[in-house]
Amino acid sequence: MMLRTALLALILQLLALPAGAEGPIVIKFSHVVAADTPKGKASEFFKRRAEELTRGRVKVEVYPNSSLYKDKEELEALQLGAVQMLAPSLAKFGPLGGKEFEVFDLPYIFDNYADLHRVTQGPVGASILRQLDGKGIIGLAFWDNGFKSFSANTPIRTPADLKGKKLRIQPSKVLEEQVRALGALPQVMAFSEVYQALRTGVVDGTENPHSNMYTQKMHEVQKYLCLTDHGYLGYAVIANKKFWDGLPGDVRSQLEQAMKESTVYANRIAQEENERSLELIRKSGKTQIHVPSKEEREAFRRVLIPVHARMEARIGASLIRAIYRETGFDPNRP
Ligand code: LMR
Repeated sequence: MMLRTALLALILQLLALPAGAEGPIVIKFSHVVAADTPKGKASEFFKRRAEELTRGRVKVEVYPNSSLYKDKEELEALQLGAVQMLAPSLAKFGPLGGKEFEVFDLPYIFDNYADLHRVTQGPVGASILRQLDGKGIIGLAFWDNGFKSFSANTPIRTPADLKGKKLRIQPSKVLEEQVRALGALPQVMAFSEVYQALRTGVVDGTENPHSNMYTQKMHEVQKYLCLTDHGYLGYAVIANKKFWDGLPGDVRSQLEQAMKESTVYANRIAQEENERSLELIRKSGKTQIHVPSKEEREAFRRVLIPVHARMEARIGASLIRAIYRETGFDPNRP
């Protein structure tokens, strides 16, 4: 009997042992959105391809939905090496000293995914990722999400409808300025807290692509949605640089390959995921969806495009111009 107990204790001890020298390299990949979103799906795709290509030498543990860390904590955790990979929204790099990333938050700077890809898949995007050099972080890729709508509990048709409203935003100075331009009050808040804040009326409204709204059930506590497409929300996939540089060369190349494939996948599914979410919001019957008229769209553009000029000092006029050149954006177009 004693022998059996001792044997059982030994087996349990062995099971609890951390991976030794022979064990796989573990990558903890934390993010704040639901698994059933463009980023959630792309991180699972990366996990699968990384494990396949390295033949199990790497194990990727994906922690979705702020289950491990919330927005601010995850950035600290990456720098400390408590997690190895993240894909924060481009609006969240300010605290890391990555002000240039906020250029993606400028209202209407991208008309569509094709314009966006000219930047994220080209030299301007690469130069933005390089801003992370020297900060203990390596920028690996840009992953798409999509274009944002405004939501609230009162109808939204023109900028005047948002006047005086408290709107939850991500921690970006550009988004703060955007909300002020509307005459509304910006309220920075972690993504994991938005649903509750909307439900209890701590904030009146918010902005996000539809996949984020639907998977966090925001539409259940927001009666009105206006398809403004007024700005873009996407991600930079980043890793702890010391960890990445310390990987065996062959493993690093395999992970780079897995990242390349995941980026193609992420950017292929993002638009349809957002369209699917909008359909599901519509079907829920809980939110009235307004498609702005040409005049209403123009009213939003007139109020929001001046944010570009106001943010030049923060982001850099030359970076903003470089993006205009890539996309053909004309700030004087009505
Ligand atoms: C948000 O905070 O609204 C988004 O950045 C969440 C995300 O990661 O898409």
